[in-house]
Amino acid sequence: MVVMRAIRLKIKPILLVLSSVLWGISLCWAGDYLDSAHGNNVYGVKQINLSSYARGNCGHCHWQHASVDGNVGSPFPFALFALNFNISASQAPYEVSDNMCFLCHSNSSVQVNGIQNFDYSKTFGGTSNSNISSILESFNLKNLYPSASYHNLKDIYDFAIKKGWPFFKEKSNPCVACHNPHLAKRIKSYPSSPASYTAVSLPIEKVISTRKESHYTLWGDNLDERMSNFYSGRYQAPYSYGSTNTYEPGGTTIYDGSNLPDYATFCISCHNQYDEIYSTELGRNLRKIDWVSEGGDNVATIPYPDKHGRNSATNSVHLKDPYASSPLGISIGFVTSCTDCHEPHGSPNPYLLRTEVNGILITQSLVGNIGNELGYFCRACHKDDAAFGRTNEINTWEYIHHDSPDAPYPKNRCSHCHGPGGPRKPPIPCLNCHKHGSKDDWAPIYKTGRVCF
Ligand code: HEC
Ligand code: HEC
Ligand code: HEC
Ligand code: HEC
Ligand code: HEC
Ligand code: HEC
Ligand code: HEC
Ligand code: HEC
Repeated sequence: MVVMRAIRLKIKPILLVLSSVLWGISLCWAGDYLDSAHGNNVYGVKQINLSSYARGNCGHCHWQHASVDGNVGSPFPFALFALNFNISASQAPYEVSDNMCFLCHSNSSVQVNGIQNFDYSKTFGGTSNSNISSILESFNLKNLYPSASYHNLKDIYDFAIKKGWPFFKEKSNPCVACHNPHLAKRIKSYPSSPASYTAVSLPIEKVISTRKESHYTLWGDNLDERMSNFYSGRYQAPYSYGSTNTYEPGGTTIYDGSNLPDYATFCISCHNQYDEIYSTELGRNLRKIDWVSEGGDNVATIPYPDKHGRNSATNSVHLKDPYASSPLGISIGFVTSCTDCHEPHGSPNPYLLRTEVNGILITQSLVGNIGNELGYFCRACHKDDAAFGRTNEINTWEYIHHDSPDAPYPKNRCSHCHGPGGPRKPPIPCLNCHKHGSKDDWAPIYKTGRVCF
């Protein structure tokens, strides 16, 4: 939908002179804003101390220069009632005052009756052990968990400025790289139809059929902006928590992603094979990700195209349900959504990895690149030795690496790979080989050249 464009053209010059006409015009701004979570007249914006504005009125975020209910008018860019984003806040934990969104989306909200937002695992997956109930908390999980991770807001700001996206200004808010606060819908109330009530907008411009999608449209609302459309017939939705016959998002019988925004296309508008992205938290540039190319193991350019994306697994793959008996009628050649594995804002786990995946609560702490911790995560979808009935101990991985008909490695010259202690002492860090865009180049011997993620 393209209504914001008209609104922008009409209102921008007015906003620049801070004319009170803004508030008049907003009243006749029917349509997209009124359908948005913020503009809604039942549950939209309403600050505790601003009794003279109706619920949903722009005035709960933008103040003109005259005084409002005794509050002095806005000295802040975009005529906002508070600082949009504090660019000196380079890392979490964030303060409420670092970002105007947190003034409402935190547990000390100025919104009448406050606002609750859980994480993706809970709202769309069915459960979580992060215990968060606000957006600020999801960004600040490092306070509670040493290996927590989050989308660093200053890094997003820097990346957006570097890209020069026209909507993103020097005084813009990094949340706005992913959300348009004038359009975003109340997605949390529709866990089984998040596409129809999507909260995100693409930061890039993309033509889909003949429409132009951008920051000024919602992403996911149209039928061809769903995961079912990312690679037709290949997206199998993971199980919803506590169920073996209903699926994410929201636990219904829809299994093909036709109710899920195409989050793959959304996330790769930043995380693709081209863009260099610096991460303050990791202290390095991020690995690039190719979610769209195919070519099996024969591609020579880095990043190698991921098999969790459109590239296909080699020969066979050893998956649990629902993949193993997918109602799509395929047993190989799947695609997954970034949100099947990742939270969008923050997680107690490293790399924004979800706390619940494919109906399994990840209770072990996934510390990082140490040993086999990451295996607890993989086994939510893949079969470890225990799933093959070879042992009672979970998270051991001999069968798929050594014994299956399709196994990559012969059992020979153990210490080259396993070290002097031999197998399991300690396990080989999974991340040596399994990470986005990677082959098994690390293997000291018997390299296969297979794409490992
Ligand atoms: C939830 C808070 C919120 C509400 C409600 C809101 N805005 Fe905004 N608005 C923002 C923020 C934040 C920005 C700054 C965007 C950025 O960081 O780049 C902004 C920017 C703008 C801009 C300039 C940037 C652009 O997108 O073109 C205009 C014009 C604008 N708002 C008009 C309005 C009008 C008119 C209304 C009511 C119909 C309204 N806003 C309601 C938060 C809000
Ligand atoms: C990298 C992109 C990205 C950034 C940056 C981002 N978000 Fe989100 N946000 C998402 C996605 C994707 C969803 C939809 C999935 C969901 O609801 O968890 C979402 C959902 C939400 C929701 C609804 C959550 C719910 O209850 O389901 C709110 C509120 C929100 N974001 C606020 C914010 C605020 C405030 C910021 C900045 C502090 C922010 N977001 C930054 C991607 C982002
Ligand atoms: C004045 C208070 C206020 C401010 C400031 C504010 N919001 Fe909201 N926001 C709300 C309310 C109220 C809702 C609807 C909440 C509900 O349904 O419980 C909402 C809902 C949302 C949603 C819809 C998703 C969902 O399901 O809840 C998104 C996304 C969102 N806000 C993002 C932002 C971003 C990004 C900013 C900053 C640019 C921001 N908000 C600033 C009050 C605010
Ligand atoms: C949300 C479910 C899910 C999770 C979690 C998951 N995978 Fe996968 N994985 C899949 C699916 C589905 C495929 C099949 C892709 C295809 O058919 O092209 C796959 C394929 C693979 C392949 C390709 C195998 C081959 O034969 O070519 C590798 C390697 C792999 N995954 C490794 C991992 C590792 C390591 C982890 C843990 C860090 C992991 N996966 C976590 C769903 C998942
Ligand atoms: C607007 C651009 C943008 C979009 C869209 C975006 N990201 Fe990011 N992402 C970044 C930037 C910048 C960083 C580096 C900062 C950081 O590491 O926190 C990053 C970092 C990450 C990290 C590494 C975090 C860490 O510290 O380990 C993960 C994982 C990630 N993003 C996943 C996602 C997923 C999943 C989506 C889609 C839901 C997404 N991103 C969408 C810009 C984006
Ligand atoms: C080319 C590298 C390589 C060689 C050589 C190799 N392995 Fe492995 N092996 C692996 C990888 C990778 C794994 C999975 C990671 C892990 O568990 O350490 C694995 C896992 C195992 C496991 C399961 C361990 C667990 O707890 O998950 C056993 C047992 C094992 N290998 C035995 C052997 C034996 C015995 C030899 C020599 C006769 C050998 N391997 C040689 C790469 C190799
Ligand atoms: C030396 C490199 C290496 C290391 C270290 C390694 N793997 Fe693998 N792994 C591979 C290769 C190669 C494949 C086969 C990929 C293919 O078939 O294309 C594989 C396949 C897999 C698969 C997909 C199997 C399937 O068919 O479903 C999973 C899951 C997996 N490994 C988990 C792990 C875990 C967990 C660890 C850490 C305990 C680990 N691996 C360590 C190289 C490695
Ligand atoms: C099957 C689960 C799975 C899926 C699906 C998945 N990821 Fe990841 N992601 C991981 C794991 C595991 C890691 C940690 C290993 C690594 O860094 O690659 C990770 C790490 C990352 C990182 C940090 C990379 C770095 O440099 O350390 C980014 C960014 C990221 N993912 C983005 C995405 C995006 C974007 C998508 C969708 C296009 C996506 N992921 C889909 C499991 C997944």
